[in-house]
Amino acid sequence: MRPVVFCIALAFAPGLASAAVTYAKEISRIVESRCAQCHRPGDIGPMSFKNFDDVVNYAPDIKRVVEEGIMPPWKPSEGHGKFKGAFALKPEEKADLLSWIANGMPMGDEADLPPKTEEKGNWVLGEPDLILKMEAGYVPARGKDVYRCFVLPTGIDADKFVSAVDILPGNRKIVHHVIAYLDSSGVAEKLDAKDEEPGYDCYGGPGFDIGETNLSSLILNGFMLGGWAPGARPDFLPEGIGMKLNKSAKVVMQVHYYTGLRTGEDQTSIGIYYNKTKAEKQLFYIPVVQTRLNIPAGDPAHVATAEFPVMPFLEMQVVNVFPHMHLLGTKIEVEKQVRGEKGRMILIDNWDFNWQGTYSFVEPVKMPAFSQLRLRCQFDNSVNNPRNPSNPLKNVKWGEGTEDEMCLAFVGVIFDRF
Ligand code: HEC
Repeated sequence: MRPVVFCIALAFAPGLASAAVTYAKEISRIVESRCAQCHRPGDIGPMSFKNFDDVVNYAPDIKRVVEEGIMPPWKPSEGHGKFKGAFALKPEEKADLLSWIANGMPMGDEADLPPKTEEKGNWVLGEPDLILKMEAGYVPARGKDVYRCFVLPTGIDADKFVSAVDILPGNRKIVHHVIAYLDSSGVAEKLDAKDEEPGYDCYGGPGFDIGETNLSSLILNGFMLGGWAPGARPDFLPEGIGMKLNKSAKVVMQVHYYTGLRTGEDQTSIGIYYNKTKAEKQLFYIPVVQTRLNIPAGDPAHVATAEFPVMPFLEMQVVNVFPHMHLLGTKIEVEKQVRGEKGRMILIDNWDFNWQGTYSFVEPVKMPAFSQLRLRCQFDNSVNNPRNPSNPLKNVKWGEGTEDEMCLAFVGVIFDRF
């Protein structure tokens, strides 16, 4: 048998030799495309990975978070929906990163380094048309998760169409995530006025309960402003599509502060990009939602579902999707059913409240008349869920609080006929 084994070893050896991974060749490119959009100066990553020394210094941490699948925080499962700007590590990239660390992190031949990318500055999409900044600095309490909403008047005197939204954290050591909402009801301002400090506390949403609000007014006046959240990075909508920014609407910015042992002052800004060409189509956010939730105490896999039927004359295309649950959520998926045929549009099977995002389809998904969107949410209300905020356990219903739940997907659509 021996000669055979020998032959096989020889046959594999050249492949192994050429696979010696270097920073110059592979790792610099992997880190640039999968990590550095957040891990760069001024962004939300707590450390920068822009050069060799940074990456080497943090190698033990990088190894741990990559092995455990914590980073990069791209949530949609592979194979269910194709999304723009996806930054999950491919299996071979993950293998390269880990074997490079195991092999002592060689630089390799510096001639292989990618050409230096031009520093994009603070705003990845370029200078915004409108920048809204928190009126005053805010210092969140130390050592806990703080969810705070800030009301930002736009000062615009005509309605606008918005193609993209980005956030500039004021203090990236404590700002973990930001979601931008719109309020035309005036509720957010009242909540703000009641609280002496800047903004007001808010957890699951900006405080105007979409479960009770008039649905058509919600859709027409807008509710989300692109839903910038760090689980998906900012990008422009397809050309000719815009989100309406009503001149009377206020932007409500929900900031999640994650302070640990240190706190500090933050003054975060939001950058708004108007459509460069005429917006032929308005993006509407449709909530596919189940508000009649009742999640029994102790149930480890409670399921709630919701359906949205597409009526004749309301044929539409789905441009993006923003799934949303709270801390008991473990799994969320949106499925389409067209003429009896089912297809999964998005699946997140390791839901994490802290990594939400608006995920944009590479190709908008056509929904003809009589087709359906279906939402399925799964919750773990047992003691085995380390995120369960209730002790003792309790039955959980719909609501905005940390101990309440939601089962919701905002689906960004354009209608074929208007
Ligand atoms: C979408 C933004 C984003 C991307 C992309 C991203 N990170 Fe992070 N990373 C963060 C934020 C925010 C934190 C701090 C808060 C947290 O850990 O949740 C963090 C924390 C970390 C930490 C420290 C965590 C700890 O427990 O010590 C490491 C190490 C890390 N990231 C490595 C990476 C690597 C490696 C990649 C690419 C393979 C990556 N990150 C991609 C945003 C990002």
